[in-house]
Amino acid sequence: MRSLVKPRLMKLGLAAVCAVAAVSAVQAQDGPSSDQKAIEARQAAFKLINFNWEPMTLMLKNQMKFDAALVQKNAARIEALGPMIPDLFATDTRGKAAGVKTRAREGIWGSAADFKAKNDDFMKAVAGLSTAAKSGDEKAFKQAAAAVGKSCGGCHDSFRDK
Ligand code: HEC
Repeated sequence: MRSLVKPRLMKLGLAAVCAVAAVSAVQAQDGPSSDQKAIEARQAAFKLINFNWEPMTLMLKNQMKFDAALVQKNAARIEALGPMIPDLFATDTRGKAAGVKTRAREGIWGSAADFKAKNDDFMKAVAGLSTAAKSGDEKAFKQAAAAVGKSCGGCHDSFRDK
């Protein structure tokens, strides 16, 4: 009995291994391209920045009570994420990302220095926000947060499609 079953099982096992290998080969071929990965990574970073920024927009509009500790925490997170932005755009995805939705304008790669300058403005504004949050002063926070909002918009106006 044993001698009959074993070779069959081995055959089955081999077939399974081959099937898995075939699937991985297909996945490798059809998996995300490096353009797609780059686009997804930068969009993920902006989603995280936005997640941390949103409560502050509510505080600016008096739709949420000013919370200095929360502002301090979230500003520190944005300060950590912001310097990644130029790195996240290192992959030039102009015209190659067929099928991948991106709102990034081509100028990011055509005027890289300007893009970097916009990001520097943003980082300066965020540093100001951190300082204001540490002071615990609501008025200072509102001024600094307005400057951050302006710097997000400053980059989007030039480099992001509506
Ligand atoms: C230096 C330029 C720059 C700065 C500064 C910047 N952004 Fe953006 N942002 C972009 C670009 C470019 C895109 C489009 C990315 C894409 O679609 O590939 C984007 C996309 C986004 C998205 C959409 C992400 C998604 O889900 O696809 C959100 C939300 C966003 N930004 C929020 C913000 C906020 C909030 C700030 C400021 C606190 C900010 N951004 C600062 C350039 C910038």
